[in-house]
This record gives sequence, C-alpha cells and structure tokens, in this order.
Amino acid sequence: MKHIVVVATGGTIAGIGEKGKTVVYHAGEIRVAEILSSIPSVQHLAHITEEQLMNVDSNEMNEENWLFLANRINELIQRDDVDGIVVTHGTDTIEETAYFLNLTIHSDKPVVMTGAMRPASATSADGPYNLYQAIALATCDDARNQGVMVLFSNTIYSGRDIQKVNNYKIDAFDQKSFGCLGYMQDEKVYFFSKTFKTHTHDSIFSEHLPEKLPRVAIVYYYGGADAHILEYLSASHEAIIIAGSGNGNYSKEWMNMIDHCANEKGTIFVRASRVPLGIVFNDHVFDPHEHCIAANTLSAQKARILLSLALTQTHDINELKEIFRQY
Ligand code: SIN
Repeated sequence: MKHIVVVATGGTIAGIGEKGKTVVYHAGEIRVAEILSSIPSVQHLAHITEEQLMNVDSNEMNEENWLFLANRINELIQRDDVDGIVVTHGTDTIEETAYFLNLTIHSDKPVVMTGAMRPASATSADGPYNLYQAIALATCDDARNQGVMVLFSNTIYSGRDIQKVNNYKIDAFDQKSFGCLGYMQDEKVYFFSKTFKTHTHDSIFSEHLPEKLPRVAIVYYYGGADAHILEYLSASHEAIIIAGSGNGNYSKEWMNMIDHCANEKGTIFVRASRVPLGIVFNDHVFDPHEHCIAANTLSAQKARILLSLALTQTHDINELKEIFRQY
C-alpha cells in the first residue's frame, strides 16, 4: 500500500456551523483526523498519516504561511517512505496556494489539494468525498509529474490554472479555457490533458526557497480610477500587478503614473486583466516604454505569486518577462 500524508491547513472542509445547515459557519474548526474517521473506506486506498499543520480560514494564508507549508511538504516528500501528499485547504485562496506549491515543491511525486464548499457539520457535506478522491488521486502512478493538482467535485485541476468561479455552488472551480486535467469516478482516475508550463521539480523556485518574499500589491482598474493609488502603493511595494480592463488596459492617466513610478521609484509592473478568460500580451500602445510584464493567462492573484518568487531571483525586466512566458 502507498503511504500518503494528509497535511491539513483548515478551510470549510474543517468548518463547523449550525448542525445540518450549509451557511454561517467558521472554517478551520475540526481536526483532519476527525474528517478522516468519517470516511472509513479511505483506509482501503492507502496507508494514511495526517499532520495538522494549521487550522485556519484560507483568508489567513499569506507569504509566511505559504513558505511554511511549502517547506514542510518538501521535507515530507523527500522521504522514501512517503509516496504522495494531500493538502486540505479553504477554497477562497486555494488557487493561490496551489500555484505557489506548483512552483516550489521539489518533487515529481503527486501533491493534491482539496477542500469543500459545505462545512463538515452540513447535511451532505462535500468535504469527505473530495478528500477520499484526493487521496485516491495521490496514490495513482499517472498523477506523478503533473504539477500540484486540485481535486474538486470529481474533477482534477492544474494548480497553475485553477480558479474559483462560483462562491456558492459545490462545483465551484474551473480551469479557464483549458478544461481540466481529468476526471475521477469514485477512486478511478482518468487523465486526458497535461500542462506545458514548468512546475515542481523543474521549477527554478523549488530548488531553494527564500526566507521572505518581497511585497507585491494588486490594484483593480475601473473606469475613472484614480491613478494616485499606484503612487501610494509604490512607496511600500517593490511591484504592482494591475488587474486592468480588457487586455490589461487602463487610462492615459494610469499610463503616465506607471511611467513615473517605474522611472522614479523602480517599481515593477505586471499587466493582468480583470476579465476571467483570455491572454494578456505585451502591448506597445498601453505600455510604450516597456515598463510592464504581460501576465499571460495568469489572473492578477496568480501573477502576484509568480512575481513574488521571480523577484527573489532577478529584477531584470526581460528575465522577468521570460519567467512569465515559461511558468
Ligand atoms: C476558506 O477559504 O477557508 C473558507 C471558504 C472555503 O473553504 O470554502
């Protein structure tokens, strides 16, 4: 039997509220051992050990917690007696943590994240079944070298591309225009696509994790948005991700302020988009002086994760652009 370590961080999967109800609850209340004991059939899938690393609502995740989690998974996954890792996590920021781990775990062994939209105390909670399938996926030979995955509602998503698209339904995730990596039927795994982007043991960021990450902010552009927010943030942040309109766009006032902050303060900018689907390319109309990196298909929150790690390696704009193309 394979040995899977379940690393628990909290979330709705460990949430408790009024018995039977699906809303008004606190995430990160019960221990993962309790959730596992509610799914006895999981013992037929693998030898399981669990580690309660934290027990928080995923809105408490931050740079410090991401590094703590990645370092612990890297320690566990290097062990010969560990075949795969499952991480339980809140759904609100699972897309950020999944991408962070996808870039920082130095192994091709399976790492699968999962969570739930209904708390453990709800009627028909979705957490135990998601956890059952995540463990099954982590035992699967085909799950090696797929990058960090997220298992949710019978569907296998890539940690790079997954995004929360519904804040209420239990089928809450999607993978942009890229479909998904595969499906599951109970414990059976069906892969049918693979990411081309560099991840896990091939990622330069997984070789040595920094002790600290630089401050990177995100600003949302909207018609009439005051450009002074860029100047304000550039005083305390090394870099700013702009969730622009359309193809990562903004007004002339913003364009001039980007020029000013880049020239006067050395602020690095990424142009992402507030539009959920599509791709942002470099653009000489909105970025005539080439101050900005195009986010490619990354959302603003994922671009922030990549830029935070990339800035620990280089501040050269062309090297940063190449990193955004590759990862
Ligand atoms: C959280 O992200 O911790 C709360 C919401 C959820 O898990 O669905």
